[in-house]
Amino acid sequence: MKYLDFVDLDYSPTPSDLICDFYVDPIGISMKKAAGGIAAESSIGTWTELTTLKSYVMRLAAKVFAIKGRNVRIAYPCALFEPGNMPNILSSIAGNVFGLKELAHLRLNDIIFPKGIARSFPGPKYGISGVRKILQVRDRPLIGTIVKPKLGLNSTDHSAVAYDAWIGGCDVVKDDENLSSQSFNSFKKRLELTLAARDKAEQETGERKVYLANVTAECSEMLRRAELVEQAGGEYVMIDILTAGFSSVQALREYGFDLALHAHRAGHAAFTKDPHHGISMSVIARISRLLGMDQLHVGTVLGKMSEGKKEVFSNIDAIKSDFHGIKTCFPVASGGLHPALVPGLIKLFGNDVILQAGGGIHGNPLGTVSGAVAMRQAADAALEDIPLKKYAKTHNELSAALEKWA
Ligand code: 3PG
Ligand code: 3PG
Ligand code: MG
Repeated sequence: MKYLDFVDLDYSPTPSDLICDFYVDPIGISMKKAAGGIAAESSIGTWTELTTLKSYVMRLAAKVFAIKGRNVRIAYPCALFEPGNMPNILSSIAGNVFGLKELAHLRLNDIIFPKGIARSFPGPKYGISGVRKILQVRDRPLIGTIVKPKLGLNSTDHSAVAYDAWIGGCDVVKDDENLSSQSFNSFKKRLELTLAARDKAEQETGERKVYLANVTAECSEMLRRAELVEQAGGEYVMIDILTAGFSSVQALREYGFDLALHAHRAGHAAFTKDPHHGISMSVIARISRLLGMDQLHVGTVLGKMSEGKKEVFSNIDAIKSDFHGIKTCFPVASGGLHPALVPGLIKLFGNDVILQAGGGIHGNPLGTVSGAVAMRQAADAALEDIPLKKYAKTHNELSAALEKWA
């Protein structure tokens, strides 16, 4: 089969096909040939015709069924893929094709997973409603922080910062993405001290508090650390899903822990940022949900991350919309947030969002406790529809934050 044999614009995909939407920018060949080349190289074809191609193999050919400008839709028979094996699926649809010489750019914008493949993955164990149950917070946005400075604090100081954030009103405290078990702050000691601080904060505030320990490491070491968290009475871990790799992500979900899983996407922009090349963040979001992440960073619109409203909304849609009965995943907004942005964030995201501020809490001139208080005050004001400036007149923590950042 030649590349062009993989184009069939009369084909109607079946409900069991997996469908990919690509943006294609060919060099010196027609769109049709480029699109056919992608379908060929990601299914049963290659650059030349084969003497080994049997007639029974042909039914596995991917088919280009729509070409509109530079946008191409390809249907893949589901038998091409091993169920429950995300690396296998991505090695086909997001594999060699990115390196083809005749494509200047190629972008995988969306994947529509058929029910059979989607349901071969575990999906979130808790999802939005399960996370709300753990935290016993019914409908307001959750407030979180990342202990800062992101690296360098010893375990004792780390746990003290976490404690202050919880006392001030944070529901969630998490490690930063690049904190694991360095010589200055070992995982085990940090875990013990931070969970003790959590217990103390829970007793003193009467609120549920959770610690998202970053277990990102080589896979068996990661599982060992997650086991430590469970044994120590933690109910959450976080993982850097892209640097750890999707098979590690799935291993963490399928190991059998009762842990809620927070997904950090550090590194995603290496392939999501160029709108004409790579893989969209919404594809990563959908995959994270399939693999069982309960929470995922989706961008901020208003903070320091580069994505705009359109991209963030499509990330949210990928983790919240109906999806073959698979649970939802909690959107996390994080990166450059502070109290002055909270009303706008709630307007954009609604109440089902985890608002995380690192610098926006620990940079409050009155300190971390007040920084967390100010974030809660900003959320309270927004939910009661009171302008922040007015609310700040009687809330000095918020006032300090607005003075610094508004
Ligand atoms: C993101 O991708 O959303 C950011 O890197 C923010 O992540 P962090 O706040 O938890 O590290
Ligand atoms: C990051 O790593 O960028 C963050 O954890 C977000 O921190 P920030 O709230 O200080 O931007
Ligand atoms: Mg971070």
